[in-house]
Amino acid sequence: MTNRSLAKDPQDLTVLVTGGAGFIGSHTVVELLERGFNVVIFDDLSNSSPVAVDRVRQIVGIAADDPRLTFVEGSILDRAALEQVFTTFPIDGIIHFAGFKAVGESVEKPLEYYWNNIGGTLVLLDVARQYGVKNIVFSSSATVYGEPDEMPLTENAPKHDATNPYGQTKSMLEQILTDMWVGDNEWNVVLLRYFNPIGAHESGLIGEDPKGIPNNLLPYVAQVAVGKLPQVRVFGDDYPTPDGTGVRDYIHVVDLARGHVAALDWMGGKLGTDVALDRCSHAGTPMTDGTRSGVGVFNLGTGRGSSVLDVVHAFEKASGQTIPYVIEPRRAGDIAENYAACDKARAELGWQAEYDLDRMCTDSWRWQSTNPNGYAS
Ligand code: UFG
Repeated sequence: MTNRSLAKDPQDLTVLVTGGAGFIGSHTVVELLERGFNVVIFDDLSNSSPVAVDRVRQIVGIAADDPRLTFVEGSILDRAALEQVFTTFPIDGIIHFAGFKAVGESVEKPLEYYWNNIGGTLVLLDVARQYGVKNIVFSSSATVYGEPDEMPLTENAPKHDATNPYGQTKSMLEQILTDMWVGDNEWNVVLLRYFNPIGAHESGLIGEDPKGIPNNLLPYVAQVAVGKLPQVRVFGDDYPTPDGTGVRDYIHVVDLARGHVAALDWMGGKLGTDVALDRCSHAGTPMTDGTRSGVGVFNLGTGRGSSVLDVVHAFEKASGQTIPYVIEPRRAGDIAENYAACDKARAELGWQAEYDLDRMCTDSWRWQSTNPNGYAS
């Protein structure tokens, strides 16, 4: 079956967003709706809340029964539920976020991670193909670079072994999606490698809502600032970095969300047609309707590194709170520094991050301080 064309106006396109109730997913749905796309969220709510979907409607100003946004509760492992979605809605493209994402948990539950993330994606791809939908943007991660050889990381940097099953699933799914294109050149795949997404929508209505004690730095710092946790644990101050703490490329989740919209435009042939693609992309083969087929790989980051202490201090400034911290030993599996070269996304997607660390912390604080218990409050 031939692929669905994305060379249309957003109002005439419907995007299936798996994991669309989650942190990055919900922010992406806002940006899609604001650009005029129709959206179907498919989410099993295993690590997200239906309140996020209500809040998305509130931000965009649409009623619960507005056909521009539909929420379907379901797991990507449930073939019948996915078939129902493709039968009911005229899906043109997919942004695929759904997946388990906790690094530490993945070490303890490898089968659950491989089953859900790999198995679920295979079901999704098979059903999508059955309905002639071969446009997919995949939520990948800078984790696929493993222990990097040099900074900043370009998309040409070699992939290294991931140190945990979560990272493996991202790497393996990149390979699977690439092989799908090799076997059938109608597939149109974009792999977005995220650096460290933080922040929240400026409305303060949606944000990150981790279950239990957060694993990641930002939600942890935010919970210390709001008084839910006593102090930040800084994992190592003896790295070869300016202040000895780990350096990461933090990116505002709204910037990241906009990168997905840019990826859809690019797939639809609306952007970057005159730009030569480098060797890590197979993409760029124009189709008769002006869309592309291929595999585009893009880093989404800011290109700037910030240390753990930079983050703590920026959050103190944003929140007006003192944030106590204690230095602890290095965390297993962590690297000293990780930041992106973002030239390719800028040149080909016409996308670049706009917001700085202060803005990320300000928005994160607005969300955390007005929703101290996340969506449960
Ligand atoms: N850190 C602390 N204390 C904490 C948590 C983190 O000092 O309580 C430090 C870490 O050592 C690291 C930095 O803060 O230097 C960022 O750690 P995060 O856990 O927030 O993020 P990571 O860079 O380890 O992981 C992120 C994503 C993963 C992804 C990985 C690889 O969360 O999904 O980037 O790019 F796989």
